[in-house]
Amino acid sequence: MPDGIAIDYDGLIPNNVGLADDPRVCKALETWYPGYIDWWKTMGPALFKNDPVFLRTAVGVGSDNWAKFDFVRMPEFRWGILLAPAIENRVIPFGAHKGEPAWQEVPGEYRAMLRRLLVIQGDTEPASVEQQRHLGATAPSLYDLRNLFQVNVEEGRHLWAMVYLLQKYFGRDGREEAEELLRRRSGDTDSPRMLGAFNERTPDWLSFFMFTFFTDRDGKMQLAALAQSGFDPLSRTCRFMLTEEAHHMFVGETGVARTIQRTCEAMRAAGISDPYDIERVRALGVIDLPTLQKKANLHFSLTLDLFGNEISTNAANAFNAGLKGRYQEDRLTDDHQLIHDTYPVPRPRDGVLVTEAVPALSALNIRLRDDYVADAAAGVNRWNRVFAQTGIDFRIILPHVAFNRRIGEFSAVHADTEGHVVSREDWEQRRESMLPSAEDNLFIASLMRPVRERGAFASWIAPPRHGIDNQPGDFEYVKIDG
Ligand SMILES: [Fe+2]
Ligand SMILES: [Fe+2]
Repeated sequence: MPDGIAIDYDGLIPNNVGLADDPRVCKALETWYPGYIDWWKTMGPALFKNDPVFLRTAVGVGSDNWAKFDFVRMPEFRWGILLAPAIENRVIPFGAHKGEPAWQEVPGEYRAMLRRLLVIQGDTEPASVEQQRHLGATAPSLYDLRNLFQVNVEEGRHLWAMVYLLQKYFGRDGREEAEELLRRRSGDTDSPRMLGAFNERTPDWLSFFMFTFFTDRDGKMQLAALAQSGFDPLSRTCRFMLTEEAHHMFVGETGVARTIQRTCEAMRAAGISDPYDIERVRALGVIDLPTLQKKANLHFSLTLDLFGNEISTNAANAFNAGLKGRYQEDRLTDDHQLIHDTYPVPRPRDGVLVTEAVPALSALNIRLRDDYVADAAAGVNRWNRVFAQTGIDFRIILPHVAFNRRIGEFSAVHADTEGHVVSREDWEQRRESMLPSAEDNLFIASLMRPVRERGAFASWIAPPRHGIDNQPGDFEYVKIDG
């Protein structure tokens, strides 16, 4: 095949890493497999567990043409270990080892740091499956139900990706970490997932779309930074994961866009031009636009916390070590070592936000966050085109990065969506105009009724412009009780 690396589909675990010739790792993975399936059955999708779903499976690892679509029962999905093709003579692109040959084995001095990076990334993958496990009950269409399950099985595969690296390169420690990844549970008080946003609830489909738009995009940024890694197996793993991640963000972006479209069309048809005429808009069975804005505020702010502290020695160390680079490091034109550079960091000082230049190496988290905000803003602009097209006077606006934060510089202050530092009382008083209220959530929940007829959609969401794999509008994406 053109990639030069055929995927071996013969064994229990499809792979293009030569597992058949690596009995030690093969055994470790096969030992882990039953626990994974057990986790999937108890923590994966709660409904339609054994129904045929129209899913794509990777049959190659090149950038295009790698997917095959077919009906699959989810427990039989071919989760596998797929690395993007090796780049010949690749060198470490940044940090203290810049220009040295990329590592094919773990450099001993960075072993602990690398393991930590793999575990943190790995922990997010099963977490989102757990968060989304009840959504099948209220899917607005068979098309959306299928998209949910596609995201779920691929997050499962992303867990496999990290577990492979742990088991292949970290021996017993790696095997223990792989077990722990199956033991922690999203939202569990005793044994939660490692990062905050992955312990939040995803109670409704608007949350799911916002999550896949905002939080899977954090995944994209983290994977993009790890795809630059001097540890070549990690780089190749992340490069392939990124091709899957693109679909998750597509699901989120188009899901919200279709929600906006439906609301605007219903408003037009009813002759409502004021988006703040909330009761009348809601009476149409669609989600009012101010509530959509509040949902965006919530998911954006929760996701920003995933980038960690603005000033971070860990991030500096991982960069210096050549383990985690910057977004699109290979396209940047500086010295890739950053020893003498600075980076502007906004932080609160005496009740106002000021920008200070700090050593660029310490500011890598915020730099990645800034790249994230730009990427998210481009997606929001695409949402805003729907308002223009439907002639409704409204825009979704990303809140200020200081808004509603629990981690980093801004966690010490209360800032409104425009970035003004306000008193706690003031903030609490305005909370319901900035974040979804209990009543908003109840209203959204009231719309979450399942639609399972072919080609039909819930009242609050427009059909997609194209079917998956160009299937017609009435395609039966999930054969319920099939
Ligand atoms: Fe993922
Ligand atoms: Fe994802």
